[in-house]
Amino acid sequence: MPTMKAVRFHAYGGPDVLIYEDAPKPEPGAGEVLVKVHATSVNPIDWKVRAGHLKNFREYPLPFILGWDVSGVVESAGLGVSGFKPGDEVYGRPDLGRSGAYAEYVVVKEGEISRKPKNLDHVHSAAIPLVGLTAWQALFDTAGLKAGQKVLIHAAAGGVGHLAVQFAKLKGVYVAGTASGRNQEYLKQLGCDLVIDYETTRFEDVVHDYDAVVESMGGDVRNRSWKVLKKGGILVALIGPPPSEEDAKAHRVRASIIWGQANREQLTEIARLADEGQVHAEIAAAFPLRDAAKAHQMSETEHVRGKIVLQVI
Ligand SMILES: NC(=O)c1ccc[n+]([C@@H]2O[C@H](COP(=O)([O-])OP(=O)(O)OC[C@H]3O[C@@H](n4cnc5c(N)ncnc54)[C@H](OP(=O)(O)O)[C@@H]3O)[C@@H](O)[C@H]2O)c1
Repeated sequence: MPTMKAVRFHAYGGPDVLIYEDAPKPEPGAGEVLVKVHATSVNPIDWKVRAGHLKNFREYPLPFILGWDVSGVVESAGLGVSGFKPGDEVYGRPDLGRSGAYAEYVVVKEGEISRKPKNLDHVHSAAIPLVGLTAWQALFDTAGLKAGQKVLIHAAAGGVGHLAVQFAKLKGVYVAGTASGRNQEYLKQLGCDLVIDYETTRFEDVVHDYDAVVESMGGDVRNRSWKVLKKGGILVALIGPPPSEEDAKAHRVRASIIWGQANREQLTEIARLADEGQVHAEIAAAFPLRDAAKAHQMSETEHVRGKIVLQVI
């Protein structure tokens, strides 16, 4: 059986369960594409899965390969694939339910990838899909934000947040963002109209009558976020548990939880914005694939600015 190098875990646990080793090379089925991975990125869901935090929601067959971002080159295409051929440079978001891209090769469905941004290298391209799609879908598909409206983006310096700020500003939305003191200048550079240092300021003291909140912290941050919304506004949660319908009703606002989905049209549009220099992915660190454990340790601090990338080639 043909093999490839991959990082897998054989049992749930800490970062040291991630092992760089040989694994079976996957083959594309009908409607699928085999991508030679140049880079993938680390998302918090990776270490949540690795640690076993999500095992009650989804069964992952062990040993398992994480990694739900990819930038690389099409190696081969299965039956019925019409949009891609070997040699095409692509980026995308493999299915969360399947084996991922911490590997030399990954199989994706045709609809999960698009042409990679031409002006970005693989490291920057791999940083975008999962967080970019989540940000896009939260702001526009779910909150339906339009020019002139106002959004509060929590964790605005993080993976989802830093792209959400840029997308919202491009559409003419007024943006308030939260981060620690260390990231205040960075949020201004991203384009935030109002920058809030959560270490010194309670955001609900300075934000009122907003159209939407993008909420990725849960707990106390979620509880305090209701009151910044105007009547009919919406809280879009990115982490479970789902926001309380009772709380939403009590504040006369709406609430939704979303799980970002692969979307080829949106990937194509985001690649266009990146190529035009209108959207920039911040790379906090790039590690070789075999150092995935170090990358997880860094992500687990929950204070990364932008993204952590794993380089395969
Ligand atoms: N539903 C979905 O489809 C979906 C998709 C992607 C991510 N998520 C979830 O959304 C969350 C964020 O994801 P991510 O990729 O953006 O994570 P991330 O990149 O690890 O977020 C790190 C950022 O969080 C900020 N932060 C930490 N504590 C904060 C606080 N109390 N208030 C404001 N900011 C704070 C940090 O800024 P400072 O260093 O300045 O504190 C840092 O820049 C994760 O829980 C992830 O699992 C969900």
